[in-house]
Amino acid sequence: MTIQFANEQFSAGQHRETQAVSYTHLDVYKRQVQELNRCGFDSRGVDIKPFWADDDLHGRLQVVEQPYRIPHADLTFEAVLSTSVFEHVLDYRRAFLEIHRVLKPGGASLHLFPGPWALPVEPHMFVPLASVIQTRWWLGLWARLGVRNGFQKGLGWREVTERNFEYCKTGVNYLPRRKVKHLVTDIFGNFYYAKKEYINNFHGGAARLARRTKLPFTGEMIFAWREQLIYSVKQSS
Ligand SMILES: C[S@@+](CC[C@H](N)C(=O)[O-])C[C@H]1O[C@@H](n2cnc3c(N)ncnc32)[C@H](O)[C@@H]1O
Repeated sequence: MTIQFANEQFSAGQHRETQAVSYTHLDVYKRQVQELNRCGFDSRGVDIKPFWADDDLHGRLQVVEQPYRIPHADLTFEAVLSTSVFEHVLDYRRAFLEIHRVLKPGGASLHLFPGPWALPVEPHMFVPLASVIQTRWWLGLWARLGVRNGFQKGLGWREVTERNFEYCKTGVNYLPRRKVKHLVTDIFGNFYYAKKEYINNFHGGAARLARRTKLPFTGEMIFAWREQLIYSVKQSS
């Protein structure tokens, strides 16, 4: 059984009140649950908010309980997967403790999310280096230069600055790589940056470039600046 951690359905024209996330792909995550089920996996999805119309998945998509708890029993899943989620998770320790709890021994935890420097721009606000420079001054500079995400078109620079400043505090959380590694290792007892697997298998431009150029350290550069794919296995107790 697999679980899609943070399951989300974005439909065309659907907006979030919190404005800053701009997604162009549609239904992608719900599709992942559907596809996995179609391939014979018993797949479920969870998110902190119900961003879906659960019409055809028969209760397979569920909201995380508060205080934070994945709504499944201990030792339920062989794998927990997520894409583009951990840059939004405010309490990594709590989330990984929950992932660890619902995994069976030998189960896999696999997560793809932007690297801590997220170059050339932070992928939600479109501001360069907004994953690390989160002052009003910096955000205001780019707002004055006309930088807007898909939900900010037509807004004045002051409004955009304030929205992005708030979003930096409540909507994104880019932890340094060593902190993520330390925290996950503490819970799982193991941790692996799946650099080769990312470069060899992903469709994104950075992975394609790395495959083509075969330069040394491209894996390190991609993981620092673009995406990171982290993998751990729950050990038998
Ligand atoms: C950018 S969306 C990614 C959606 C989907 N995984 C995809 O690839 O299109 C991030 C999602 O993570 C969810 N999220 C944020 N923090 C979370 C947490 N602690 N636990 C579960 N989901 C969380 C958000 O509600 C949001 O739906």
